[in-house]
Amino acid sequence: MTQNQLDKKSEAWSALFSEPMSDLVKRYTSSVSFDQRLWQADIEGSLAHAGMLAAQKIISTQDHAAIEGGMKQIRDEIESGAFEWKLDLEDVHLNIEARLTQLVGDAGKRLHTGRSRNDQVATDVRLWLRSEIDLIDGLLASLQKALVDIAEQNVEVILPGFTHLQVAQPVSFGHHMLAYVEMFARDAERMADVRKRVNRLPLGAAALAGTSYPLDREMVAKTLSMDGVCQNSLDAVSDRDFAIEFTAAASLAMIHISRFSEELILWMSQNFGFIQIADRFTTGSSIMPQKKNPDVPELARGKTGRVVGHLMGLLTLMKGQPLAYNKDNQEDKEPLFDTVDTLKDTLRIFAEMVGGITVRPEAMEKAALRGYATATDLADYMVKKGLPFRDAHEAVAHAVKAAIAHQVDLSELPLKVLQEFNPKIEKDVYEVLSLRGSLNARNILGGTAPAQVRAQIARHRARLG
Ligand code: ARG
Repeated sequence: MTQNQLDKKSEAWSALFSEPMSDLVKRYTSSVSFDQRLWQADIEGSLAHAGMLAAQKIISTQDHAAIEGGMKQIRDEIESGAFEWKLDLEDVHLNIEARLTQLVGDAGKRLHTGRSRNDQVATDVRLWLRSEIDLIDGLLASLQKALVDIAEQNVEVILPGFTHLQVAQPVSFGHHMLAYVEMFARDAERMADVRKRVNRLPLGAAALAGTSYPLDREMVAKTLSMDGVCQNSLDAVSDRDFAIEFTAAASLAMIHISRFSEELILWMSQNFGFIQIADRFTTGSSIMPQKKNPDVPELARGKTGRVVGHLMGLLTLMKGQPLAYNKDNQEDKEPLFDTVDTLKDTLRIFAEMVGGITVRPEAMEKAALRGYATATDLADYMVKKGLPFRDAHEAVAHAVKAAIAHQVDLSELPLKVLQEFNPKIEKDVYEVLSLRGSLNARNILGGTAPAQVRAQIARHRARLG
């Protein structure tokens, strides 16, 4: 064979192929432009595999040492940016393996014994995602702590609580912040649960049926700190449930961020004026000099759509796939990577932004007073005086009507007027009609009374450490 023929041949997959791939197909099928971010996991997985191959005497200790040395150099090359990623070599796995063989010769060619890229890629994605989940766990904790901090500073601040976006009952602003802490705490629980199913080892499944080499799969799992091995080779190479579960958990976390964003945006608008966000999280307008726009929450609300879209993409990716591995699976990476990037950036920025919120208690209190937020308290007062609740409800409706006609709050109606609606009303009603009285009255587990809110803050602090 001439050198020219050899070069040509080296571009094709094997002796079986009579021509190399077309450039367009090469670009279409290659994943190295995005899957190179799996390089650390790929090396870690390969080293665990090689160590096991040596322990099982499938490769020699010399080959094992050569592989370790070669991988060390590859790690340095990638870290320093000297590593040359080749599109021709399709993906991160082939790029690293080819460089290894270039560096250490036959030992490099022995690394792939008892392994396929099918179980290799499934392992890499799991290892990578596991470490990302651990980072996300830390970010969720930071965001919760920031929310607990702002809750603690504002336990006594009164916010109009809404239902149907109509003023309903007064709530503590701290209580409102703790509602989000509950959501992000559930997100952290979900991530921890997903992690259990991410952290299982596909290696040893080889292409799809297992391998005839006496691999010690448990040993590899232990080396990689995985919780166990996938028990069916066909499932091991084709399962992407873990990626879908993760993206579902991430979508829910983003939806919580999006709901919070919606409130921040409303509260910042002049019609509410409840809060200010630190200037570094807002932008101006190119035409309206008076504007300060809440771009960060708006973008987060928008990016939620993108993450939910990735979930739909992954579900659809899997729906028609027969067992076992199909190239379709290469399409799991970009949505998964983008989900991780988007969620991490968003959590990080929100933890910071929450610390930069300025609360305007007067504006909140004024808004609470405008909406007859203590009407339920008046009804409850009458019930305590012996009136059936439904009758009390009706009597208060008349009282609110009168207050609206006089353009005053219920607490501003003279006792005589109130007594027209129910003669049993006495002077002590004014305690009940105050926003603070209403707040203090809801002293039940999970309620908005400051004493309850403080108890919850203590519980969260103990939990978050
Ligand atoms: N780049 C591929 C992926 O991401 C690796 C596995 C390829 N396996 C194969 N049989 N072509 O899924």
